Amino acid sequence: MNLQAPAEATALRAACQALRVALGRPGGLCVLTGAGMSAESGIATFRDALTGLWARFDPMLLASEAGYRDDPQRGWDWYAERRAGVRAAQPNAGHLALAAFARRHPGVLALVTQNVDDLHQRAGNADAIRLHGDILQDRWLDGCRHGPACHPDEAQPGRPPRCPRPGCGNLLRPGVVWFGEELPAQALDAARQAAERCAVMLVVGTSGAVWPAAGLAGLARRAGAAVILLNPHASEIDAEARLHLRGTAAGLLPALLDAL
Ligand code: APR
Repeated sequence: MNLQAPAEATALRAACQALRVALGRPGGLCVLTGAGMSAESGIATFRDALTGLWARFDPMLLASEAGYRDDPQRGWDWYAERRAGVRAAQPNAGHLALAAFARRHPGVLALVTQNVDDLHQRAGNADAIRLHGDILQDRWLDGCRHGPACHPDEAQPGRPPRCPRPGCGNLLRPGVVWFGEELPAQALDAARQAAERCAVMLVVGTSGAVWPAAGLAGLARRAGAAVILLNPHASEIDAEARLHLRGTAAGLLPALLDAL
């Protein structure tokens, strides 16, 4: 028995139709994901009321360089807790559907993510373009004075770990993009090219509150792509979309992709 409201079923059929156009083209489908993609894997989003990280913690204290320098131990402990959550999480049916689609249609999918977890990669999308870095990676807070030989793995244990060389004490920080920092140029370039090249852009689980990632939907639309948003709630980039699929990533992505 199909419980979907007729409008939702119609939107899903129209989205499947649009996706078929993308199938025959290299880079025909660009998928942009946000925190909602991993919500059903038990990883909190940022802005969902009450449950979102930014509803419980101050982003400027925890996701900015100044905040980290102000109290590195507070920052390190917070990321350590988030890292433990990511390691304990499993890719959900949405992650798995994207990976299976990429295997069935080599070269068609360009996957761009704002997420710093590794669930896309663990599901099988090793080539996902990471716009906001990787929470499981460490790097030095300051430029290293000792040259390339100074690897984060050499850091002396602590909260945070620090460089063991006399007179240095450089601190480790998580390999994520903090507020006020530039995105990795190569990843941003690749994401923009993917947006301009695709026939369909599927935007999954993002509030569209953070730029330049949020601008990719408009870039794709202006380049002639059909933009489809998948989100249980309204987002700040709804106006860019031709179709809105009101549902969840793990619930709708298999329905959308498995038949293609
Ligand atoms: N499936 C799909 N979408 C969902 C689900 C779900 N199960 N659960 C929640 N959502 C939607 C919410 O409605 C919301 O629009 O996911 C979105 C999550 O939005 P944010 O929490 O703002 O996350 P995101 O858009 O990824 O944030 C962008 O902001 O804090 C920074 O660097 C961080 O990458 C992050 C960026």
